[in-house]
Amino acid sequence: MGMGMTVQAQTHEFVIQTKKLGAEIQPTMYGVFFEDINFAADGGLYAELIKNRSFEFPQAFTGWKVFGKVSLMDDGPFNRNPHYVRLAPAGHPHKQTGLDNEGFFGIGVKKGEEYRFSVWARIPEGDTASKIRVELVNTASMGENQAFATQELVVDSKEWKKYQVILKPEETLEKAVLRISLVSPQSVDLEHISLFPVDTWKGYENGLRKDLVQALADLKPGVFRFPGGCIVEGTDLETRYNWKNSVGPVENRPLNESRWQYSFPNRLYPDYYQSYGLGFYEFFVLSEEIGAEPLPVLSCGLACQFQNTDESAHQPVDQLDGYIQDALDLIEFANGGTDTRWGKVRADMGHPEPFHLKYIGIGNEQWGEEYPVRLKPFIEAIRKAYPEIKIIGSSGPDSEGKQFDYLWGQMKHLGVDLVDEHFYRPESFFLSQGARYDTYDRKKGPKVFAGEYACHGVGRKWNHFHASLLEAAFMTGLERNADIVYMATYAPLFAHVEGWQWRPDMIWYDNLRSVRTASYYVQQLYSLNKGTNVLSLTMDGKPVTGADGQDGLFASAVYNKLTDEVIVKVANTSDKTQSIDFILKGMKKGERLSAGRRITLSTPDVYADNTLDNPSLITPREEAIQVSGQSLHVDLGPNAFAVYILKK
Ligand code: AHR
Repeated sequence: MGMGMTVQAQTHEFVIQTKKLGAEIQPTMYGVFFEDINFAADGGLYAELIKNRSFEFPQAFTGWKVFGKVSLMDDGPFNRNPHYVRLAPAGHPHKQTGLDNEGFFGIGVKKGEEYRFSVWARIPEGDTASKIRVELVNTASMGENQAFATQELVVDSKEWKKYQVILKPEETLEKAVLRISLVSPQSVDLEHISLFPVDTWKGYENGLRKDLVQALADLKPGVFRFPGGCIVEGTDLETRYNWKNSVGPVENRPLNESRWQYSFPNRLYPDYYQSYGLGFYEFFVLSEEIGAEPLPVLSCGLACQFQNTDESAHQPVDQLDGYIQDALDLIEFANGGTDTRWGKVRADMGHPEPFHLKYIGIGNEQWGEEYPVRLKPFIEAIRKAYPEIKIIGSSGPDSEGKQFDYLWGQMKHLGVDLVDEHFYRPESFFLSQGARYDTYDRKKGPKVFAGEYACHGVGRKWNHFHASLLEAAFMTGLERNADIVYMATYAPLFAHVEGWQWRPDMIWYDNLRSVRTASYYVQQLYSLNKGTNVLSLTMDGKPVTGADGQDGLFASAVYNKLTDEVIVKVANTSDKTQSIDFILKGMKKGERLSAGRRITLSTPDVYADNTLDNPSLITPREEAIQVSGQSLHVDLGPNAFAVYILKK
């Protein structure tokens, strides 16, 4: 090359066949997976602001600071949550009786908004009404008054009754305290002490945090997997997620210990419990409201295999009947008529219409011979009673290798409908797996549910754009293989900034704010632009999978029958701008591209991400692009993900 000559970057030719429609993209393709990890339920999505509202934590006053004469009682009105407190006069006019609740990392309240305080109460003796004062308090205040919202509430019955009062704070505070004081000279009994924002998602009293549900709704997810994850299995069978404990009146849902309390001793959360206030009924309703197919996962009788190596920790194979019945009853709860036992429970909770459940997962992330032997009787019983229900089995925690191959073989043999694959893997995995599904067995057999995945950066196992970009690159391979990949859900979904055990996560929050990460936007770009059918896209006759010689490019194309649009997704994982020609083959003579848009996700600092203080650092940027004819030239900058939407 002579002096002064410039190197012309090679232009890549993407040939897109627009005439022959490929596999249909399942409506369930891009979904969300909710697990109560990182304080995702209590302290997160579930909008309850009071921790240990029924005094059922093993240390009955966890979360509470009591003063004066407060006694713990255990013959309350709710048999599965029998504890309550008795507040008696302090015995001196200058002394006080009461209790403070610290909430979850404090109680977040906003100025001018309404908060519903409710309590079950009675007067234990005499006929005279008792009175309590309810306050939101800023214990760190330098002002004369710590309280910034106050109400009084009269308890006038000897019978247990629910009382409520609305608090309207005069300031915004991330870490308020709820204070209850006895103000009358008569005792009072208090149970199930609760505080919710009035403005929850859809205004439900036992409601969910609005900003967090909105983030889910904005993903338009096709499937909603719940409630976990390892919590389905439990550290021991005693603490596995028991869906039957999570339905019916919230006051009588028993407490469960979270496995994520102590999973990582370096991030210990001894006060992490599951109130089940966000239970299976609420999960089904939520799925319906965000338009996603519900996908509950139940225990197969194996306690968490990471935490138990001894066979005796698990339910013996010949004693699985109760577990299998739980699965059958769940299907009845979701779909049964109101004249069935569990269908009636659903109807009594407010949803006489069925939830139209189509999928069920049996076992979470199980492995070894102990799994298929337990799964088999579930499959037989479910197929017999509900042949229309699709059953999801597991390929374990490995993304490849001996166990993975063994489990896939077993899942085929048992005839599950989908296999749930999990991969929390480093950059090298995501860069090398663009063609992962191209060679999967297409013969009659289970489909793939990529049920838990995220790029865990080496030395950078936290949220940053580069990890999200590699997820976007990898997802081109999910999309290209939509004939076999029917569902995919990133994980974990939620994390409280003060309560996380596991990262990266898709959506972070504190008590007042939330932030959508770059990985969230990747998921959203796929979900909102999933199209209806796969189109063939090749470069030099090969799919674009980041293979050697493809300059770090990954790409997939789909067609949207409803809008007559060709949608091309391209991830440029290289450090250079890549020059690309899209050649659209198979368009009719005279047919032309009439309009185009490009949505790009990129950022100069690839190791940055959105934060609570800077939530819009990395968001999709949409622009119109000039199109004409049957081809298009694009230049995609380094480390960028782009979706091109081309109208025919
Ligand atoms: O998503 C976090 C955990 O990862 C899940 O609970 C489990 O299924 C997997 O090991």
